[in-house]
Amino acid sequence: MRLLLPACARALRLRLRPGAPRPAPRMAGCSGDASCTPDKPLTNDGKKKTLICIEGNIASGKTTCLDYFAKTTSIEVLTEPVAKWRNVHGHNLLGLMYQDSSRWGITLQTYVQLTMLDQHTRPMISPIRMMERSIHSAKNIFVENLYRSGRMPEVDYFVLTEWFEWIKKNIDVSVDLIVYLQTSPETCYERLKRRCRKEEKIIPVEYLQAIHELYEEWLIKQTLFNVSCPVLVIEADHDMQKMIEKYEENRDRILTPYSLRQCL
Ligand SMILES: Nc1ncnc2c1ncn2[C@@H]1O[C@H](COP(=O)(O)OP(=O)(O)O)[C@@H](O)[C@H]1O
Ligand SMILES: [Mg+2]
Repeated sequence: MRLLLPACARALRLRLRPGAPRPAPRMAGCSGDASCTPDKPLTNDGKKKTLICIEGNIASGKTTCLDYFAKTTSIEVLTEPVAKWRNVHGHNLLGLMYQDSSRWGITLQTYVQLTMLDQHTRPMISPIRMMERSIHSAKNIFVENLYRSGRMPEVDYFVLTEWFEWIKKNIDVSVDLIVYLQTSPETCYERLKRRCRKEEKIIPVEYLQAIHELYEEWLIKQTLFNVSCPVLVIEADHDMQKMIEKYEENRDRILTPYSLRQCL
């Protein structure tokens, strides 16, 4: 497990190895980036609201992680709106995209951007919300992959990019902490086959490898796009029992990103 800081704080990056003595987490202050300023609405009791996004490859264990925290805490949990993507007035857009991504990529990604925006802007009931993926990974990983692999025309990419930039500038879609479930593409491939979601049957391991590389570029190397919140990296190739141990080990770090900031 390790905690990565935003690009603006790379000099103070903290890496934790399993079993190593754990220093008090350190974070650097950021400037000039709205996402680094905890300028979020307040709850009734005056506390800041916190958004934690669980990120990772397809079948890396994100929903399982959310289910675990939903069962063991009182936080609010939003899973990925896959059901909506599978039924747009009777059309299975997710299925169409996997069958012919060159034709349906832009259609699905436009809808994903909308449904993710809906999740980010939905009023928070509880002081902490945990969300599966985000509008940021939709764009930085999945749109990027379609474009790079030549399955999304440049003009579609630019239209989605302009929408995304407009949204980030005008609407609060900031995130307080990204928890990156880091897996190997092969582990995801095994889990995906066991999960047996019908649309996913045609996904080759190469697709998972491409998504993995983009996640690593975005969240580990931080060379792809700006990362404007801390990233907690949890190795997630392990079995369920071990993953639960890891979630417990990291419970405080995950659920109190603001107190991490205050440790500085
Ligand atoms: N640590 C794990 N070990 C083995 N199987 C797992 C583990 N975590 C999740 N799974 C299984 O892998 C599949 C994908 O998990 P899921 O949480 O749905 O992934 P995601 O939401 O990231 O796509 C599910 O069938 C789930 O039960
Ligand atoms: Mg899921």
